[in-house]
Amino acid sequence: MRLKRLLPETFFNMTSFTGAAIAAISFGLIVFLFALEMFSGHSQAYMGIITFVILPVFFIGGLLIVAYGMWAEKKRRAKLGLEKGELPAIDFNDPAHRRQFATLAAITFFVLISSAFGSFQVFEFTESVRFCGEICHEVMKPEYTAFQHSPHARVTCADCHIGSGAEWYVQSKISGAYQIYSVTFNKFSRPIPTPVHNLRPARGTCEQCHWPQHFIGDKLVTKTYFMPDEQNTPWTVSLAMKTGGGNVQTGTSSGIHWHVNPANEVTYVSIDSQRQVIPVVYMKLGDGSVDEFTTTDSFDESKLATGEKRTMDCIDCHNRPTHIYRTPEESINSLMTQGLVSPTLPNIRSYASAAMAAEYATEPEALKGIETTLRTRYANMYPEVAKERKQDIDQAVTQLQKVFSRTIFPEMRVSWKHYPNNVGHYAYAGCFRCHDGKHVSKKTGRVISKDCNSCHVIMSQGPNDKVVNLTPKGEEFRHPVDIGDSWKEMNCNECHTGE
Ligand code: HEC
Ligand code: HEC
Ligand code: HEC
Ligand code: HEC
Ligand code: HEC
Ligand code: HEC
Repeated sequence: MRLKRLLPETFFNMTSFTGAAIAAISFGLIVFLFALEMFSGHSQAYMGIITFVILPVFFIGGLLIVAYGMWAEKKRRAKLGLEKGELPAIDFNDPAHRRQFATLAAITFFVLISSAFGSFQVFEFTESVRFCGEICHEVMKPEYTAFQHSPHARVTCADCHIGSGAEWYVQSKISGAYQIYSVTFNKFSRPIPTPVHNLRPARGTCEQCHWPQHFIGDKLVTKTYFMPDEQNTPWTVSLAMKTGGGNVQTGTSSGIHWHVNPANEVTYVSIDSQRQVIPVVYMKLGDGSVDEFTTTDSFDESKLATGEKRTMDCIDCHNRPTHIYRTPEESINSLMTQGLVSPTLPNIRSYASAAMAAEYATEPEALKGIETTLRTRYANMYPEVAKERKQDIDQAVTQLQKVFSRTIFPEMRVSWKHYPNNVGHYAYAGCFRCHDGKHVSKKTGRVISKDCNSCHVIMSQGPNDKVVNLTPKGEEFRHPVDIGDSWKEMNCNECHTGE
């Protein structure tokens, strides 16, 4: 038999045969599935797991069984006195040995080349958005859905969560293994806790695409609101956000990105699990001077020692660059601004809010609840409208259900309530965690500024038909309803909760 001449005699035993069969079948399947994926053009995450994780394990396992079988056979033959020693004796003068050696060398070479190619495929696959977002379907649904509707939808999970370099790659695979364990045994928490404490510092991720020195100039931000009254009174505010602050060369280092200007360093201590309560802030400037601000509000000083100390980077403001769970208020205002929900339906702003912000246990229950809430409210309060404008109400129901599915995930308990957004200060403390006018330096008396004009100037504000246009210097904020001086003394999020 020809095979007998190509392979050493020790190969011919049942164990090695079985191993070789397992290896050959898995290899064939890998090639087949890989070709299928290449030619079909679209790919599925589960198939990737089979092709690049499960089958290779069987392939390598098969090869190990072959080796074990050969070793056992060798031992058996040695016992029978057919061969000497436990290791093969190679004699290159023997043509049979030369042939066998060449065959083994060819097989080894082939296995090495394919495993190098295979490892690269495995690397690419485990770094892909599909792998991260689709494998743990239930768990990652909120993060994945929000990501797909965000400005970073075309950036990969790995770009922000791992970045480049072997050290973080290995670390991510170790924590990934733990995550697979926690998903398999249903040990993960709902919602997944935020912040991510071992997130790679922004220098290795965000700053690969956005660099701090680049921040110059202003950015115009316009917000349109509908008030929760019968007419859904519209109100617009346009702000010129001072997003500069990063330029070291010109020296004009004022503006919002001053905090991440490489010349400055702002460090803080937070005493809650979500970095929302910040009693102490340290500042180090380019000229070497330092200052320390402490809140005048009362807080539990014993927690300072165990609190988390962190030097600010991008994530301390932009903690939701892609997993954005909009508040119902933002979602509804946006639908109404676009006319997708008719602003002329009486009280729709407040009904929509009640429908979206209610507690639901599951998504189907929520979608049902949104429909019931809107329909019964119009039927009870405005029977005429319910009849005459049925189409508008139907559309409002559909649109609200859609936006609910994109922003609130009852099964994972994910919503705006659990994931604060630190850019701004309207529905969350955000900038006012430090800029609340109460963080004072004992040394210099300096206060972290709450001056409304330090971060933005108001270009225009008012009900839509009477928007006041102002000079670029801006004007004092006008609160849409009279609440006296409360908006100066309190933080906005003490009254505005996002509903
Ligand atoms: C633009 C950068 C970026 C991309 C792209 C990105 N993430 Fe994130 N992710 C973040 C940041 C920033 C946080 C929150 C960090 C914090 O607050 O500590 C986060 C947090 C998370 C969390 C913890 C829960 C939470 O929302 O705080 C999970 C889980 C997560 N990301 C998964 C993913 C998955 C899966 C993908 C790809 C589908 C992905 N991320 C893509 C930046 C990103
Ligand atoms: C792989 C490149 C890449 C990485 C990494 C990345 N971004 Fe971006 N980012 C972009 C691009 C491209 C845009 C512009 C998207 C657009 O305008 O549609 C953007 C836009 C933004 C915006 C403006 C969003 C808006 O609403 O217009 C912010 C803020 C931002 N990124 C912050 C971050 C933060 C924080 C991180 C790190 C957690 C990060 N980015 C990581 C490429 C990246
Ligand atoms: C961890 C505390 C902290 C947080 C959170 C914070 N800041 Fe600051 N910020 C400081 C400190 C400290 C200073 C320096 C003291 C000052 O000028 O008030 C400062 C200064 C500034 C300045 C003036 C910089 C200059 O030109 O000299 C601006 C503008 C600013 N912050 C905007 C923001 C915005 C916008 C946010 C929210 C998105 C924010 N900050 C969140 C601590 C913080
Ligand atoms: C002190 C809080 C704070 C820090 C720290 C911070 N940003 Fe920002 N950033 C803001 C605010 C506020 C805006 C304007 C928000 C808006 O778009 O309404 C902004 C805007 C941006 C934009 C959009 C700019 C534009 O002109 O469209 C990008 C991109 C961005 N930041 C990236 C980063 C990156 C990268 C880092 C880290 C190097 C960073 N930011 C650090 C608060 C911050
Ligand atoms: C430390 C910087 C800072 C200070 C001080 C500050 N703001 Fe803001 N403000 C912001 C940022 C950042 C946003 C968010 C812009 C965005 O969402 O893109 C914002 C948003 C707003 C908005 C729009 C609300 C919304 O829907 O997000 C209003 C109105 C506003 N600010 C008014 C004020 C008033 C009034 C004061 C003074 C009491 C003030 N701001 C002080 C940084 C600041
Ligand atoms: C004492 C409570 C309170 C504080 C503090 C407060 N507001 Fe309001 N705000 C209200 C009330 C009440 C309304 C009327 C509509 C409603 O009930 O939402 C309102 C309405 C608004 C509206 C119109 C849109 C809407 O939801 O009706 C804007 C914009 C607004 N506030 C901005 C701010 C900003 C910015 C701050 C912080 C600088 C602030 N408010 C602080 C109570 C407050």
